[in-house]
Amino acid sequence: MCGIVGYIGTRNATPITLEGIKRLEYRGYDSSGLAIIDAEGNLKIHKKPGKIIELERTLPSPEKIYGTVGIAHTRWATHGEPTEVNSHPHTCCHHKLALVHNGIIENYRNLRKKLESENHIFVSDTDTEALVHLIEHFANKTDNLTQAVQEALKLVEGTYGIALISSDHPDQLIAARKGSPLILGIGENEFFITSDVSAIIIHTKKVIYLQDNEIVTLNRDSFKITTLENEAVNAKISVVDWDVSSIDKGEFKHFMLKEIFEQPVSVENAFRGRLFPNLSTVRLGGLNMTGEELRRIQRLQIVACGTSWHSALIGKYLIETLARIPVEVEYASEYRYRNPIIPPETVVIFISQSGETADTLAAMREAQAKGARALGITNVVGSTIARESDGGVYIHAGTEIGVASTKAFTSQVTILSMIAVLLGRMNNLSPTFGASYIKEIQKLPEKIQQILDTNDKIMEIAKTIIDAKNALYLGRGVNFPVALEGALKLKEISYIHAEGYPAAEMKHGPIALIDAKMPVVAIAPDDMIYDKIISNLQEVKARNGRIISIATEGDKRIAENSESVIYVPKTIYTLQPILTVIPLQLLAYYVANLRGLDVDQPRNLAKSVTVE
Ligand code: AGP
Ligand code: GLU
Repeated sequence: MCGIVGYIGTRNATPITLEGIKRLEYRGYDSSGLAIIDAEGNLKIHKKPGKIIELERTLPSPEKIYGTVGIAHTRWATHGEPTEVNSHPHTCCHHKLALVHNGIIENYRNLRKKLESENHIFVSDTDTEALVHLIEHFANKTDNLTQAVQEALKLVEGTYGIALISSDHPDQLIAARKGSPLILGIGENEFFITSDVSAIIIHTKKVIYLQDNEIVTLNRDSFKITTLENEAVNAKISVVDWDVSSIDKGEFKHFMLKEIFEQPVSVENAFRGRLFPNLSTVRLGGLNMTGEELRRIQRLQIVACGTSWHSALIGKYLIETLARIPVEVEYASEYRYRNPIIPPETVVIFISQSGETADTLAAMREAQAKGARALGITNVVGSTIARESDGGVYIHAGTEIGVASTKAFTSQVTILSMIAVLLGRMNNLSPTFGASYIKEIQKLPEKIQQILDTNDKIMEIAKTIIDAKNALYLGRGVNFPVALEGALKLKEISYIHAEGYPAAEMKHGPIALIDAKMPVVAIAPDDMIYDKIISNLQEVKARNGRIISIATEGDKRIAENSESVIYVPKTIYTLQPILTVIPLQLLAYYVANLRGLDVDQPRNLAKSVTVE
């Protein structure tokens, strides 16, 4: 995580980089800082623990800190507490270099020990500081700053996205990446470096997505991209196809609430242009697989983290139900280190909203190293997983700023439902069923809107649980992963401990937790196992449990077994999660908001986990 913004051009770098990291604050926000080279050629560094507002409070007005080359950073600490001295930028012994970094320098202890033996003076506890002193070590031997950075990075083990400026080279900005995202923005007589396009899109839409082991040297009127071995790289210039209005909160109090309410549109964007009811199937050209190759698939593995892992679990139900192809779901962090067994005719799908999650990226590289075909389901165009996969599907959810993922989840499940139809129709799924399934997918946006229209009632229910210390979420079948997702939403933004459980499993332990203080959220739509979950609710009620049920509109029985009921429209069983999750997103949002917490930037979290 963390956010990096760099600028070199003819304008003042301070306001540009400061505004830029504000747009990246969702990526990490425990401290921030900036460095510029002023008109006299002096390196000026300002940095502060806490949110960017703390840095701004201590800065003289941005206009007074004038320099046309600068870098800024908003941090998510991995090594060293979020104190001022550990904040970025970090500088070298002679206060000539300033470096910001996203990632982890795995071998920083050895590097630091060697550099200290050469009389380098360290002041922080971070891994990053070892890199700026290592660059200084080489910069003392050559006047070529790019070469000094290349030589230093060759000794680094781990991941980095860096930006560096030097008062000895006031007309240059150097950036490089390995494992952490970095993008070059090309303006009119100015250049930008950023972790995420949203930081610079108001200045330019022309971008180059840097790849691992690439280094870019920015001058005021030109740039050069090479490898660490100084081989020239001819990179492709892309044009970003969205604008800044899509990353403003508008009339919403939080990005998360805006993104919850965007779901009728984002789900429609996920299937727009990809459904063919008259052929009772779908088209997903980005998979880069022929019909023959798709038909040969005998097994799928789906690998992800967090919310994306929950959508993967639902994907298992969808694909096994419609296509009768066995699906294994794996945590990326476990998969990557387990020497996974990937039988022939197996395709591995990697789901990642950001397309940059370190564990998911590493798991994908491991699968590819074993010769497996890797498909990515991502949201960020040009993200590393999107670029390095052998094919995939963009979910087209639009930028998701809220750290708690919402619209990405429902769009991921929508994509998985289309993959299930595609593979199903290549196996035993009939044209009739395929067509009816597609028609139901097309009705989802209006059904989501119906649920959103009950948000006031959901807010009232949230008021009844804002003082809870624990909560239990129960679901069966395809709604068990929804219980996991609902629990994750609540715990990550309200800090109430919440667990998701298969409803029937409650009897095997968690029932001991049930009392009048503990809310039990039960996902109980009218499906083939409805009677079973009603039994589970009666077991909870018999122990004075407080039940909030998610039920199908028109259900007459659920109310007698619940303290509160939130109704959702009926749909096909395997599409239920796209509807049953909406009340849980809103419930978590309102509980956190009513508790006065920072919904968009919860403590300790960050939007994109680009470190292990
Ligand atoms: C979800 O609300 C969390 N922010 C987190 O679990 C997230 O889903 C996870 O880090 C995976 O992120 P990705 O989809 O970008 O890979
Ligand atoms: N590992 C570095 C640190 O802890 C960078 C963390 C980040 O990516 O924000 O300072």
